Order: sequence, then C-alpha cells, then structure tokens
Amino acid sequence: MRGLPGISLGCDYNFEQWPPEVWAEDVVLMREAGIDLVAVNIFGWSSIEPRPGEYDFTALDRVIGLLHRHGIRINLGTGTSSPPPWLTTRHPEILPVMADGTTRSPGGRQAWCPSSPVFRRHALALVEQVARRYGSHPAVVLWHVSNELGCHNALCYDEASAAAFRRWLEQRYVSIEALNKAWGTAFWSQRYDDWSEISPPRLALSARNPAQLVDFQRFSSDELLGWYRAEAAVLRRHTTAPVTTNFMVTAHIRNLDYWSWAPEMDVIANDHYLDHRLGDPVAELSFAADLTRGLAGGAPWMLMEQSAGAVNWQPHNLAKLPGQMLRNSLTHVARGADSLCFFQWRASVQGAEKFHSALVPHAGTDTVAWREVLDLSATLTTLDEVAGTTVRADVALLFSWESWWSADTEARPSQDVRYLAQVHAAYNAIRELGATADVVAPGADLSRYRLVVVPCLHMVSDADAAGLGAYVAGGGHAVVTFYSGIVDRSDRVRLGGYPGAFRDLLGVVAEEFFPLLPGDRVRLAGGGSAELWTERLRTTTAKTIDTYADGPLPGVPAITRNTHGEGAAWYVATALDPPSLRDLMDVALHEAGVRPIGAPGDGSVEVVRRAGGGRSYIFVINHGTQPIEYAATGRELTTGAAVSGLLRVPAGAVRVVREEPS
Ligand code: GAL
Repeated sequence: MRGLPGISLGCDYNFEQWPPEVWAEDVVLMREAGIDLVAVNIFGWSSIEPRPGEYDFTALDRVIGLLHRHGIRINLGTGTSSPPPWLTTRHPEILPVMADGTTRSPGGRQAWCPSSPVFRRHALALVEQVARRYGSHPAVVLWHVSNELGCHNALCYDEASAAAFRRWLEQRYVSIEALNKAWGTAFWSQRYDDWSEISPPRLALSARNPAQLVDFQRFSSDELLGWYRAEAAVLRRHTTAPVTTNFMVTAHIRNLDYWSWAPEMDVIANDHYLDHRLGDPVAELSFAADLTRGLAGGAPWMLMEQSAGAVNWQPHNLAKLPGQMLRNSLTHVARGADSLCFFQWRASVQGAEKFHSALVPHAGTDTVAWREVLDLSATLTTLDEVAGTTVRADVALLFSWESWWSADTEARPSQDVRYLAQVHAAYNAIRELGATADVVAPGADLSRYRLVVVPCLHMVSDADAAGLGAYVAGGGHAVVTFYSGIVDRSDRVRLGGYPGAFRDLLGVVAEEFFPLLPGDRVRLAGGGSAELWTERLRTTTAKTIDTYADGPLPGVPAITRNTHGEGAAWYVATALDPPSLRDLMDVALHEAGVRPIGAPGDGSVEVVRRAGGGRSYIFVINHGTQPIEYAATGRELTTGAAVSGLLRVPAGAVRVVREEPS
C-alpha cells in the first residue's frame, strides 16, 4: 500500500458498535497487533447523517484522531453501502426489486437499487460531506467506496433499472433492429418495435431470452461501475489519496465483470472467505488470489477482507484450525498480496454478524485466536522485504465473467455443467502439478506464457479466439476444454460444428453434444474415466489421443492434439476425472517446457515464487499433515535460518526463503 512500508496488516473497525472506552482500549491493542491500516465508516451512514441533511461527525472525528495519534493509517469508507431507515422510509422507491417483482425490505443491508436517482442523490451528498471533511487528512491513505458493490443488490428489476437498462441498450445497439438481431427476437415472437417495450428479464413462465439475460448482466455490472465512478469523482475533487472498492472474487458471487472494473481502481482489493461448501476451499483461495493478481495486471494487490476464524453466513461455519489463519494469509501473500486486512477488528455482540470471527474474539485476548493474530503480525514483519515483488508464472488460464453468465444460463445442454467448477478443475490440475498460473482475461497478451489453459470458455469474441489461435500458431501451447467457443458475444451459436470458434485451432469438429446423467461415468480407452459430458467428435487435422471405451459414443475421440503452426493445441471433450486431467496437463506442461517449481501431489503443498528488484523469494506452504522437504538455498525469512540445499517445512507450516545461488 502506498505510504505503508512492507506487508501491511489491517482490519475493518466498526467502532460505532462500541462506547469510547472501548475505542481507547482498541487502539492500544491494535498497536500491540501491529495493525497499520484501519477501515472505518464502511457502514457509517445512519451514524453520520442521523436525519436528512444533518451531519454529525463527532464520533468519526474522534476515532480518526485517535487512530492517527497512534500512528495507524486510515482506509476511509464513503459510508454509502447501506442507506439509513429515514431514507428508505421516506423513499421506498429506492428499494431493490427482485426478478419475481417482489420488493426487498430494509432491515438487512445494501437495500438500494443501483439505478435509483433518489438513492444516488442522497448518497452523493453524503460522499461530498465525508470527502470535504477528510479529503486532506494526513492519516487517510486510501478511500474505500461503498462496500462490496453488488454483493446483494447487483440485479435490480424495478422501473428505474428498466429505464436505465433501455438507455444502456440504446447506446449499445443504436437501432432497435440491431437489438432484435442480437437477441434473436424472431424466436418466440419477441420482436421489439420500440425501446419502451423492453424490460429487465423479470421471471417469466418459461426460460427467458438468453441474450437478454447476458446483456442484463453486462448492464448491471456497468451500472454499478458507473456508480463507483460517481462516488470516485466526488472523492477526487477533495483528495489525492488512492481510491478503490473491495471486489468479491469468490466462488459464490459472479455478477460483476471485474475485467472492466479493474482499470478504474487505484489499488486492486479483494475480499475472500474460505467456502466450505466447495470441495477444496484452499484451492479456491489460491485460484481467487491468482485471479485477483490477474485483475491487478500482475502487480501487488491488497486483501481487503478475510476472516480470522469462522464466518457466519454458510450453513456450517467452520473455525480455523491452529495455524490455518497464518497459512491462508501467507497463501495470499505468496500469490501477490502486499496488504492483508480482516473483517473485523472486534467481534460484534449484536447484529447479524455477531457469530462472525474477528481479530479480537468474544473471549478476549487471552485466547489462541489472539495469539495467532500476534503470530501473524510478527511473521509479516519478517516478510516486509517481499513487498513490491511480483509472482512469476509460465502458465496462463483464461477466465471470463461473460462466459460464466452464458455457460450457466437457464436452458442449456446440462444443468450439471457449471462454468466455475470446470475452471476450478483445470486450475486444480495445474496447481497440483506444482505450477503457478496467472489467471487472465481472454484478450490478454499471451506471448510470455508457455502454456495457456482455456477451460469451458463458452462465450468468446472473434478477436479473442483469433488471439489464442495466433498465440499457438506462433509456437504457443494450449489446452482447451469442452463447451468452449460455442457462442459469440451475442450468445449466438457458431455454426458449422462445435467447438465453434476453436474448430480450426483444435483440428476437430463435433456434431452433437451427448451430456451424461448425474452419476453416470464413461471409461476411456487409455484407462481414465470421465463424467458430465461427451460429444460426437471427429478430428479434421488433429491426432486422437484417447477415445471413449463405453458410454454413448464408444470409439469416439475424447482427447485430441493438433499441431497448429509452430505450436500445439489439445482438446479435452469431456469432464475428465481429476487424476486423468492432471496426467494430461502434466504432458502438456512438459511439452510446453514448463518446469513446475513445486512437486506434483494432492495440492496440500504449494510453492510459489515472487521476485523483483534483483531479489527472489520462494514460498513453501504446507497445508498437509506431514513434514516435507524442498530443495532451496538462501535465508529463511520467518525463522532467520540459513538454508543450504534443503528446506524443511513442518506439517501445517509456511517457510519463505530469500533465494541465493547455491
Ligand atoms: C463481507 C462484507 C463484510 C462482512 C463480511 C462477513 O461480505 O464486506 O461487511 O459482512 O463479508 O464475512
């Protein structure tokens, strides 16, 4: 973080919940824990504007002053995340409306429609006040616009949204004929004669128009980005400090296309929580961290929120085992975070998140949890010199929110084929082989990668498909998995056989999808197995690597490899079981000349390198239950020990070595 040396440690401080005596105790404890960055006023609106137009900054002034006197820097919220009850009572028209036409009541948070002019007017007036008051405050080193924009209210179906959606469509398509063409409205008698006839895709009796659904996602993402810009514009009139908002690069939220948001952030910040509903929550953490780094263009980024222990919003909220919080934290650092912040400082005693963990737990500071916080803080101090370095990866994985929206639409070949699960499967194979992947946008410059992995890239533009083709033709290597290249950006099927946009690159053509029923598996002639998906595929220029041994298409190619120009492109036409996918990726990695820095395994040991400025650091994170050894030479930063040739990493531990030539 600019203005903060080393790897910074921070937290959300919802001081409004506590009396001033606690604030005084808190800053002392924050100092003890080495906290350098504190987010305040994230949910402050009803406290600082208790009545319309009446501002009271007494408490915020005191807390900011207190933090400043203790040398703690501030990440200042604009406070607009949740409107106060006086606003929703006077203006119920700002409340969000769901796809089924029902209105959501206040009483939770984020109860506002992103397109509401009334909400916008009141919220911008608040931002103006906050920015004017603290815009040049020396302790404010970062501005935090709203909070997790779109976490709950991204898709709003009220009349204000309908009007904004129409304006957005008019800008995009200019003529109603162009829209009709893009949405394929000749089907089911959906032809529009006038913009005023178009609504947001509210729930209907049958499946809705998929192109309209994708455009509504795009619109909704743009609408909130527009709101971010509006807040940021007010801030920039009063401050030169960096401005950002916290992204939600995580498995259960998919409404914002962060590729379009990222260029507008002064710092890329993400919130990440372990999701125990997923098969491998730690692998998902690594993926999210790598994707966040992709959003940052490879530069260091900040983890704006994570939990010290359990969250409160999953069906079963698992506490973190001893050492886990440190391991999770250092996984983020290994993958490029230079700043680690937590939600929240002190566990609430009231409110919907009273059972969410915090740095200071309900039981106080004579606790394992608090000692782990102190331990993390001490460890981060030893890693300060890593700040500013960047992660080195030879593999890129293409990720697209648009593909997520279109692949997971309502009417599709199989409801069990889910975009993110396929992305995770491909990512996990690479990770388990010990390689590091950059997660990048489909249009990214691929020239510096040896291997590009393209999982389930259902929607792809002509230009991005051509970019991948040119990369391979120029000597690159690619692995493309099924359900890729199927539709263009208007969600229109590419004719002539699947996988549409990638047919020539892959040297194959598929005539028909043959998805499998849940629980059904097919065997492959080469010994592996697969589930979910098969397709009637034939090769044109590709070589068949493996075929189905049974299932609906015995003898049909399941895995192919095509020489394309100077390079090679693999196609995986089914959902391989993890070991088979890993074997295939292993071959592709070796063929592409990637030398993984980690040993192959089950993913419980992660090895990542950060380097820059003539320095190089190896992070070895042992999530497993057995000690491991890793070949390294240099100085271990967390213990200070010299390492000559062999680094021992106890079970559950993390070691970071500043590498020296052996
Ligand atoms: C985030 C949010 C925080 C808190 C946290 C709990 O979504 O920004 O305010 O609710 O989750 O995990």
